[in-house]
Amino acid sequence: MANVTVIGAQWGDEGKGKIVDWLASRADAVVRFQGGHNAGHTLVVDGTTYKISLVPSGIVTGTLSLIGNGVVLDPWALKSEIEKLEGQGVKVTPDNFAVADNCPLILPLHRDLDGLRETAAGQGKIGTTGRGIGPAYEDKVGRRAIRVCDLAHLDEIEPQLDRLCAHHDALRAGFDEPPIDRETLIADLREIAPFVLQFAQPVWKRLKKVRKAGARVLFEGAQGVLLDVDHGTYPFVTSSNTVSGTAASGSGLGPNATGFVLGITKAYTTRVGSGPFPTELTDEIGQGLGERGHEFGVVTGRKRRVGWFDAVLVRQTCSIAGVTGIALTKIDVLDGMDKVKICTGYRLDGKIYDYLPSHAASQARCEPIYEEMEGWAESTAGARSWADLPANAIKYISRIQELIECPVALVSTSPEREDTILVRDPFED
Ligand code: GDP
Ligand code: IMO
Ligand code: MG
Repeated sequence: MANVTVIGAQWGDEGKGKIVDWLASRADAVVRFQGGHNAGHTLVVDGTTYKISLVPSGIVTGTLSLIGNGVVLDPWALKSEIEKLEGQGVKVTPDNFAVADNCPLILPLHRDLDGLRETAAGQGKIGTTGRGIGPAYEDKVGRRAIRVCDLAHLDEIEPQLDRLCAHHDALRAGFDEPPIDRETLIADLREIAPFVLQFAQPVWKRLKKVRKAGARVLFEGAQGVLLDVDHGTYPFVTSSNTVSGTAASGSGLGPNATGFVLGITKAYTTRVGSGPFPTELTDEIGQGLGERGHEFGVVTGRKRRVGWFDAVLVRQTCSIAGVTGIALTKIDVLDGMDKVKICTGYRLDGKIYDYLPSHAASQARCEPIYEEMEGWAESTAGARSWADLPANAIKYISRIQELIECPVALVSTSPEREDTILVRDPFED
């Protein structure tokens, strides 16, 4: 299989950035296809940490990095991220980086609306990253978005702004907010336009050329399948499809381009924001996992909720997203635990479930059924081969593989790029 699609198999933050960076040196192009700067990916290379939200993680290896049409792009966030990367010695030029000219833009008015809605929702809030992601996708499907290509035609933008402002001004009035300041918005767009336009092009065409030359494409998903707007824990989800199929529609390649679907899966479970989480641990075990795993959001700094590995959920997400194999990350965080638990089913209203029901209130009432296994005292941190793992860690990984009905292709044992065990090369046939 020439191509690899990396997606999150849980609620995000599974370690996608680390694995994409590790695979990037063997890819000819890395493509983001959904989400925006709500994503936060951490890469550690020879002791240097890179935190990336919008630019594909392949940029650190210098691999051609493309932002596809499925992404919602905040031009100011893009500029500051590129400046930050350049400050760390990473080169970002029109030679190694491009943005699809049909990407919808995230504007300050989207961020405003995200915040206003969350505040008004009180207890019912989603717990978004506050980046304007949801409102920007709403404007895309509502056919009133300003897109990257519009930045080259700002003299003709008034009719588009009429439609956009008619919608937003009505919403803002409901929140007692003043109408959009059109003059400021246009002035801001004029200022940022040249920066974005130097990278803008039809990414589908660039990819067609790359593919014709027989190149390997690595698709980099953001978030996780449980945050997918269709398949996730709705309404506590993000506003895009995070499943593997989006790699095709969000970049402009056909569905046969996705190749090996690598589902990044944490050896336990975390979630940021509101919503059901059947295996959540609010005791000192959860606190210990959170501390050892440094479970704080990259984007918002929020403490991540932590729980045991949920095999029901990962079996479901692997099936929905057509996962070929998983990369199991952060196994080292479980080092030193007496016992480890895996959720194998739910109890709800006297019935046993082998899947997560769709109704939000039912999801919230699912009681996990656990299987307990012996932990391991030895360290797995930094292990680079199967032989370096203690027997009980191997048993744990094997049991996960069995329960989720999907093979393990990689195991990650530290944040560092090279601390990775290869079981099956996703780029090999
Ligand atoms: P992403 O959003 O899926 O890219 O994941 P994040 O970067 O938000 O969160 C994953 C965190 O775990 C980051 O801080 C990584 O550096 C770290 N990480 C990734 N793989 C491993 C691993 O195998 N072991 C440990 N201890 N940390 C890891
Ligand atoms: P990466 O790519 C974890 C969550 C938010 C919130 C919900 C909706 O780093 O895995 P949004 O701002 O998207 O409208 O928020 O989705 N969320 C993430 N959680 N990792 C992410 O990205 C996330 N991106 C969004 O916390 O619950
Ligand atoms: Mg993250």
